[in-house]
Amino acid sequence: MLEERVSEFAGWWQDDGAVHTHAPAWAQVRADVQQAFPSPYSSTSNDPLARLVGISIQLLDNLKPTAPGRAFLGNDPSTPDYSRATQATLPEKLQLLDRVVVESAQLFQGMPQWNHPLTMPNVIPPANLAAIVAAMMTEVFSPNIIEGEYSWNVEFSELESAAMVAKLIGWDAETAGGLYTFGGSGCYLYGLKYALTQVLGAQSRHGGIRTNGKLLVSQQGHYCKLNATDWTGLGMDNIIAIETDPDTNAMSADHLEWVMSKLYNQNIPVISVVCTIGTTDAFAIDPVAKARALIERYPNPPGYGKAFLYCDAVIGWSWLTFAKYDFQANPLGFSPEVLTAIAANYTAIQDVIYADAIGCDFHKVGWAPYNCSLFMMKDYAAFQNLMRRPGSDYLQERTSYNPGLYTLEVSRSAAYSMAGWATLKFLGYEGLQAILGGILEIQTHLRHSLTLEPTTVCVNADDNGFVTLFRVYPSGVDATAQYQRELTDPAARDQLYANNQLQEAIANKLWNWFRDGQLHYGEYAPYISYSTGFRPTEYNADGSDPKAVIYALKAFPMNLNITPASMATLLRLALAARTEIEAETSPCAGV
Ligand SMILES: Cc1ncc(COP(=O)(O)O)c(C=O)c1O
Repeated sequence: MLEERVSEFAGWWQDDGAVHTHAPAWAQVRADVQQAFPSPYSSTSNDPLARLVGISIQLLDNLKPTAPGRAFLGNDPSTPDYSRATQATLPEKLQLLDRVVVESAQLFQGMPQWNHPLTMPNVIPPANLAAIVAAMMTEVFSPNIIEGEYSWNVEFSELESAAMVAKLIGWDAETAGGLYTFGGSGCYLYGLKYALTQVLGAQSRHGGIRTNGKLLVSQQGHYCKLNATDWTGLGMDNIIAIETDPDTNAMSADHLEWVMSKLYNQNIPVISVVCTIGTTDAFAIDPVAKARALIERYPNPPGYGKAFLYCDAVIGWSWLTFAKYDFQANPLGFSPEVLTAIAANYTAIQDVIYADAIGCDFHKVGWAPYNCSLFMMKDYAAFQNLMRRPGSDYLQERTSYNPGLYTLEVSRSAAYSMAGWATLKFLGYEGLQAILGGILEIQTHLRHSLTLEPTTVCVNADDNGFVTLFRVYPSGVDATAQYQRELTDPAARDQLYANNQLQEAIANKLWNWFRDGQLHYGEYAPYISYSTGFRPTEYNADGSDPKAVIYALKAFPMNLNITPASMATLLRLALAARTEIEAETSPCAGV
């Protein structure tokens, strides 16, 4: 009986693996599904994957406008109605593969296009082709960088990335190490967990976090400090905000020292000092060397480990490539202004060498796809020893690299390690230098243009990052003089409030023009953003008046297609928006 069943079952398949027509329905459907998987064998023609990838790229390309064109994909200006998502149901039957590919491409309708010459809202770069293709390759074979057995040579993408970035930092690549993880906030979480375990001991991994140790980070530090303290169980109330210098926005070393000496006298341990390298908008770079010296000067109470020094360098790390730049010979021919800014950035950033760990986002200043972040550690063995767990029953250590024994994640996609690695291999020192310095050249051009227009003023002219924050004043107003008044003179408070409203109205009008996808004054509108509190006014240093802050329009030009023409459009349309708003709000409007 069993013999018959066995032979009948085997008889449903032909020698080439196809099923016979007399096989039951499940085998027929399964055979159809099988066509939707990559072939296990090499084939030179009719590769369905190559065909579908080709179609999908074409479909995505069809969503791009012809030049010059709107800055979003497709032609549907409507805002997504996410409430209809609950109507989704699982299809009853197998669907056509091509139809799913078409529907997948349709989901990109309306999305901002990060590569467009008019796109400059935030620290969002388009991805370079080496990274895109390397990451796509992982989707074919699904390497899992949990361990060498599941990714084999693909593990080199993580290990070699770590070695290359360690050398950029100035660490010994033999003792340093790195792990790719889920974003700058993932790096921060890794940093805090490492810090907690170093300071409170490995026992804290069993007994939990029972000590109100402190995380010291500047007021301007990224809000993911909340995620990390919350999710590790340290608690958000254990963050101490260190004051920042009102001009540079960088952490005040004096205030840091004051806080650390106070904690020292009270026998309260510091879990970690976090230096931001640099901050998201102002690109302020905190004083890492001083933070290191203070950690040595004010040691934690007996029984606790040394306070950890973490650098949140997710938007700063690639400036380290200027370590190899000859600033005298200036081989890439940067303008004197930009060269000075680059030198200032590099000089400040090189102190990350003093950190215990550093977060590096490739999906920010590495021009790689989301998400792609490398958590770098100076002493990898120390981290491994602190964080190691016993192995699992179902995984064996078949190779010498098994990071799954100490990472937060179990499975980790190699999409991000391959993307990061391919980026480093492709761009090298010179490629990254040209992108970084090139963006500063474009940014400087915008700042010059703002200076030439009397009704606009750049409000962060001293920052050396990519962001230009600027205010547009009513027609006929001397923007520079008016801004100075609003910044320093409490008597100009009402004018400040009114002009803050003007910035918001201009930003909203530009947003509406960008999203309607139409020509305005003969041009497509740029996609920018704005800040509702770039800095407090000088008479509101303590922030007691939440309205006495500087609003500003923001240009964050991260892609390489942005040219002086993009900036000219931005300025023209910002002024045109201002003029329309003036007409709409004038007492005669609507009469
Ligand atoms: C300074 C800084 N740290 C951390 C983050 C969080 O990074 P992610 O969005 O990759 O999680 C950001 C994001 O902009 C950032 O600018």
